[in-house]
Amino acid sequence: MKRVAIQPGADLDGFRAALRRLIAADVPPQDVVWDAAPSLFEETASAAAPPVALPRRVADIIRLVVCHSDPERYALLYQLVWRIRHGEKTLPAIASDPLIHRLHGMEKSVRRDLHKMHAYVRFRRVETPDGDHFVAWFEPDHFILEATAQFFIDRFISMRWSILTPVGSLHLDRDRLVVGPPAQRSDAPQSDGFEEGWRTYYESTFNPARLNPTVMRSHMAKKYWKNLPEAQSIPDLIRSAPSRVRQMIEQESAMPRKRDPQKAVAAMADQAPKSLAALNKLILAAQPMVQGGTRAVLGEGPHHPDIAFVGEQPGDQEDLAGKPFVGPAGQLLDKAMAEAGIDRKQAYVTNAVKHFKFEPRGKRRIHAKPTAGEVKHYRWWLEKELDLVKPKLVVALGATAALALAGKPLAVAANRGSLILDGRPGFITIHPSFLLRMPDEDKARAWKEFVADMKAIRRLSREYEKAA
Ligand code: URA
Repeated sequence: MKRVAIQPGADLDGFRAALRRLIAADVPPQDVVWDAAPSLFEETASAAAPPVALPRRVADIIRLVVCHSDPERYALLYQLVWRIRHGEKTLPAIASDPLIHRLHGMEKSVRRDLHKMHAYVRFRRVETPDGDHFVAWFEPDHFILEATAQFFIDRFISMRWSILTPVGSLHLDRDRLVVGPPAQRSDAPQSDGFEEGWRTYYESTFNPARLNPTVMRSHMAKKYWKNLPEAQSIPDLIRSAPSRVRQMIEQESAMPRKRDPQKAVAAMADQAPKSLAALNKLILAAQPMVQGGTRAVLGEGPHHPDIAFVGEQPGDQEDLAGKPFVGPAGQLLDKAMAEAGIDRKQAYVTNAVKHFKFEPRGKRRIHAKPTAGEVKHYRWWLEKELDLVKPKLVVALGATAALALAGKPLAVAANRGSLILDGRPGFITIHPSFLLRMPDEDKARAWKEFVADMKAIRRLSREYEKAA
């Protein structure tokens, strides 16, 4: 049995030196006893033992895990190194291995402790004959004092400060860092003149409407509260939150209303309609989110169709008729469907945006493209609509429909064909109005391709029908 002496706390250097000796002597982990105090049987450091080359990820695990308070930490780390050096090169990536699982948990716990220390150390000013001295008290869960030193040095290099903890202390005096003995809470000052101002600032920025005491406690465990001047205000702030929220609501209702698309979407989420009729009622009653638009144009067609075609938005004629795809683009769509053997009456036809967005020019209303934000607003309706209609295949006619169905921009040329659109079996093709705008010499070819897409859509929908 080899006894290895290691210093109490996080002895990274001691572990590295021991590692070299043990690996050089080929000592298996089960033959090593790690002593967290210098022992009579201590192996003397052998300067001749060569360095042990380790992957960077392993070096990172070691650096953090030596800080953990678990007395088995060195034994576990040595097992890790031993197994990697004995053929298990990919071991650190095998999260299901019990050793890796345990080390990951330890690493995470140390990281959390470091984060808490960075966030919750509060210095209090003490006047001394040599000038101001800033002193903080903190109770870490692990031996992180030295690992965290650089963080505080970087931030408070020009100050004279001490961080006192039950497992040791750090002192910075004119750029010199000294690691000192453990301290007691009573060694640190309890308050200073700065705190009143800090508490007032905290109280004024505290938002009672966002109060969630459970989350607050999980982020800021109660054990840290006693170090934080602002924490003294928390019980009062929690107690007075409901009345402050009521006050905010009263103030808000007296203020002029401004339309906020995000709030509108959130409000709609609460109303989730349970039938297509209920959804349509909601759409018809809603204010257009685009400029122009006299009425909402609803989707049309049977429930559970093989195919749902989704266009961009109703045009001038659709807006007047209150029906989708009845103008020039709709006539081309009908023709292409007929050539491919798709019966429009059996398909569902709708739009990504439910209102006609236009700019008036004289007596004419000129189509204006909806913005991505507008498409996003209408997307909630489209998703509910398709959830209720339940088509086997959704077809995006053009880029706006593709954006609405996928929830992200998809170029038509690069994505034309069948694909999954946000979890739904889908197909992207051109918008029929694209054919109307084309130079004559390209029209015949583009038409052929469009009809070929329609035929592919019909075939695909049949396959989904069989699979259903
Ligand atoms: N273009 C569309 O995208 N939808 C219609 O309903 C009409 C034209």
